[in-house]
Amino acid sequence: MLPEFRKEFNFDQASYTHFNNAAWCPVPSIAVKSAHDFISKIANEAVNCFEEIMDIYETDKEVVAKFVGAAGPENVAFTPNCATAISMIAQSLEYKSGENIVTWEQEYASNAYTWHQVSKKHQLELISVPSEKNYDLDVQRLVDAINPKTKIVTISWIQSQAGTETPLLPVIDACKKNGALLLVDCIQGLGNKPFDLKKYPVDFLCSGSHKWLCGALGHGFLVFGKDHYKTMKPILQGAMSYGLPQEQTDLSIEPRIHAARFEPGAPQIIPSRMTIESMKVLMKHGVDNIHQTTQKMRRHMVEHLKKLGAIIKGNQDMTLGNSTITFELASGTEKIQEALIAEKISFSLKPAGLRLSPHAFNTIQECDKILQIIESELSHGG
Ligand SMILES: Cc1ncc(COP(=O)(O)O)c(C=O)c1O
Repeated sequence: MLPEFRKEFNFDQASYTHFNNAAWCPVPSIAVKSAHDFISKIANEAVNCFEEIMDIYETDKEVVAKFVGAAGPENVAFTPNCATAISMIAQSLEYKSGENIVTWEQEYASNAYTWHQVSKKHQLELISVPSEKNYDLDVQRLVDAINPKTKIVTISWIQSQAGTETPLLPVIDACKKNGALLLVDCIQGLGNKPFDLKKYPVDFLCSGSHKWLCGALGHGFLVFGKDHYKTMKPILQGAMSYGLPQEQTDLSIEPRIHAARFEPGAPQIIPSRMTIESMKVLMKHGVDNIHQTTQKMRRHMVEHLKKLGAIIKGNQDMTLGNSTITFELASGTEKIQEALIAEKISFSLKPAGLRLSPHAFNTIQECDKILQIIESELSHGG
């Protein structure tokens, strides 16, 4: 645990052990306060505070740009979630027949359905690269699938199923050699592990805010690693793709010149405020510190689970991945689940196995409590 990070949260510790942070994290107190303050302001001032609020909304994009190492706030568009960010790119790109799209077979639904639909609509080949044993991934297989007909490679940096990471540099290199674009869904990494667009110059970074970032559910963002936002025509359009809501319709004008052209309508000011305050908390404590802390818990749990006969899913190379621990036991999973629920310890049951995902506010003691539950259920022949 990072004790000072733990103090940023005010959830009911006596009742809840949040061990499903790869699904949905609690929100720091300062982000909760920022939402309350904003709601009170809007309730009181309504349209009178519009300009002030829009200034804050646009300035907040600087924090996102800093968090991911983007060139600036003009590269950032806020979206309602990760799926919207991905779909916005998938549906806005222009395709030629004969092109293909490369992805992993184990991709989360938000990065699968929209590409499936686009490939059918434009008659493109969708190349889904299979996983290795136990949901591990071999990046070479993905690299080998990329060819000069590849329009875009669309992958999660870290997968939902078992936290499996794809090393990005070989993929970036293969995309560059073949003239392909690269979209990366970063929702399972941001806030858990440092990410920098200067190190990983991908074309499109998509994320939601409610997981490791501890931001708002129902908020996400699309960050342009390069300047495609200057030329791409957004599939969703509205007043704010072109200017401010009070401006007259002028059908001769072009969309706004920054990534905000990908925000068609009235802004989601409350969730974006919450997310930005959470990001500031993460930056204050250091994402690298958070990663080191959560990796200690991951290693501790993996070591013990292996002794209990569990099969660990995801990256077998433990220097890769976020800090989720996904595992399968020969028997007893149902009883373990019941026991965890009875103790209000959150977890996720995925096709890959039982997934636990500690954040830096969790403790080794909590890990041990879970391990004891598992051991006790196994010894009762569960
Ligand atoms: C890799 C990945 N992408 C996206 C999401 C969520 O997407 P959305 O914000 O569209 O619901 C998840 C949630 O589990 C995820 O693991």
